[in-house]
Amino acid sequence: MEHLDLAKASTDGGGGGNLVLILDYGSQYTHLITRRIRQLSVFSLCISGTSSLSSIAELKPRVVILSGGPHSVHVDGAPSFPDGFLQYAEENGVYILGICYGMQLIVQKLGGEVAIGEKQEYGKMDISVEQEECGLYGPEAACGTQTVWMSHGDEVVKLPEGFTVVARSLQGSAAAIENHSRRFYGLQYHPEVTHSPQGMETLQHFLFDVCGVTADWKLQDVLEEEIKVIKGMVGPDEHVICALSGGVDSAVAATLVHKAIGDRLHCVFVDNGLLRYKERERVVSTFKSDLHLPVTCIDASDQFLSKLRGVKDPECKRKIIGREFISIFDDFAHELEKKMGKKPAFLVQGTLYPDVIESCPPPGSGRTHSHTIKSHHNVGGLPKDMKLKLIEPLKLLFKDEVRKLGSILNVPESFLKRHPFPGPGLAVRVLGDVTEGNALEILRQVDEIFIQSIKDAGLYDSIWQAFAVFLPVQSVGVQGDQRTHSHVVVLRAITSEDGMTADWYYFDHKFLVDVVRKICNNVRGVNRVCQDITSKPPATVEWE
Ligand code: XMP
Repeated sequence: MEHLDLAKASTDGGGGGNLVLILDYGSQYTHLITRRIRQLSVFSLCISGTSSLSSIAELKPRVVILSGGPHSVHVDGAPSFPDGFLQYAEENGVYILGICYGMQLIVQKLGGEVAIGEKQEYGKMDISVEQEECGLYGPEAACGTQTVWMSHGDEVVKLPEGFTVVARSLQGSAAAIENHSRRFYGLQYHPEVTHSPQGMETLQHFLFDVCGVTADWKLQDVLEEEIKVIKGMVGPDEHVICALSGGVDSAVAATLVHKAIGDRLHCVFVDNGLLRYKERERVVSTFKSDLHLPVTCIDASDQFLSKLRGVKDPECKRKIIGREFISIFDDFAHELEKKMGKKPAFLVQGTLYPDVIESCPPPGSGRTHSHTIKSHHNVGGLPKDMKLKLIEPLKLLFKDEVRKLGSILNVPESFLKRHPFPGPGLAVRVLGDVTEGNALEILRQVDEIFIQSIKDAGLYDSIWQAFAVFLPVQSVGVQGDQRTHSHVVVLRAITSEDGMTADWYYFDHKFLVDVVRKICNNVRGVNRVCQDITSKPPATVEWE
């Protein structure tokens, strides 16, 4: 549970005793609760719902929120908090809020009854708050109605002793319950989603007015704490390496580490021949001129492209790229060792919190979730004999927090707002063999026109990700009275929260007309432009 050590450092450093701990039972909204609470300037962490009592107690939470989840409390092996947890909470003055499944767990464990509901309640529902004086709702919400987002099959049919229903759905089921004197609360709906318009108000009232939490968590404190941790971790003559991808996360992580240890950080940026138009010049100039990072730029285009020649299978392409990258990184580390007479001892990774949050697998899946941290996709392939210790200064942060931290570190705003770009680069956007003809060059030009048009139209920041795709087919066209047999390209722009699901972005007619005209007039070899209007699911964001 490495991340808990960092968490402890964070909670001890800033608002100790002010932590809101989320126990995750697998709801799709668990990360959102964590983020919402952080937006209220309160430090919040999420760990597995079946973590041991000692790992919960060690964090000294003031409030524990039991998340929702896809399970039924009746099913064998339904995940639950550890034995002795409720007693621990009462003895230590910890406030407990159960949301959906979390509320049903409290009810069942305290001797109430949860049954399969006669009517399942999904989607927007109205509830009425029945109690004038209660813990969960402030005076403005008391005795009123509000719309909330429900998503449950089971319902509470008998309350444990000492509990009261403070709000009901219009169908009569318990929507909010509490035992104020024992500090137990439950909501049968999701206050954290925007479909519950007064949900944030309820959370705010609960945390600040009922639990007495103070809003004193700041990213500036996180920054200072991380710098202290890194300085303590890296000995005075030890060296650290970092691979910069050109993306926000690795750049912010490197900038932070650089602030802590200066030029004992050695960054490398690899041009794999699969970068966007002028990408190398653009990012290296930001690294050097704006961020003052010590970076070695390695041009390995030929090495990558020769290995990719003739390869069509998307997974094979990814594996080849991964392998080549590792071998270049390995060489870089050995070169440094020769130069400095000492092996670099640490590796910086821009891992984010969603990558390390333990998630709760469904019961019966055969997987346990106690203390298993999701494997970090960007660490997995590193050579074992490198024996580098990891520095992951962003591992407790969400993407929007990383952007804010970057801003505090003076990373240029334009860099922080860059759309995500996949590690394998344009290889997953040229379908099939990337080395065939001048596919990569065509794609770079089309992509640049598309992105520049989006920027010119002031749309860049409203779009999560936009790019072009090259199809390995040709179609018939007519240009300047001549029949052509040229390439087809696809434009894709999406909106998304985190890349896990996505909607296609709706451009107006004129924008599309202009962009297609610019592409066909300026890019030799393209006579047809399509737009991808598939959401994710069923499609993925990238085409390969
Ligand atoms: P998909 O295509 O899986 O993409 O819906 C979701 C998000 O992940 C990015 N992506 C990748 N990023 N290595 C990466 O670093 C990859 O192999 C990779 N594949 C997809 C994609 O651009 C989108 O933001």
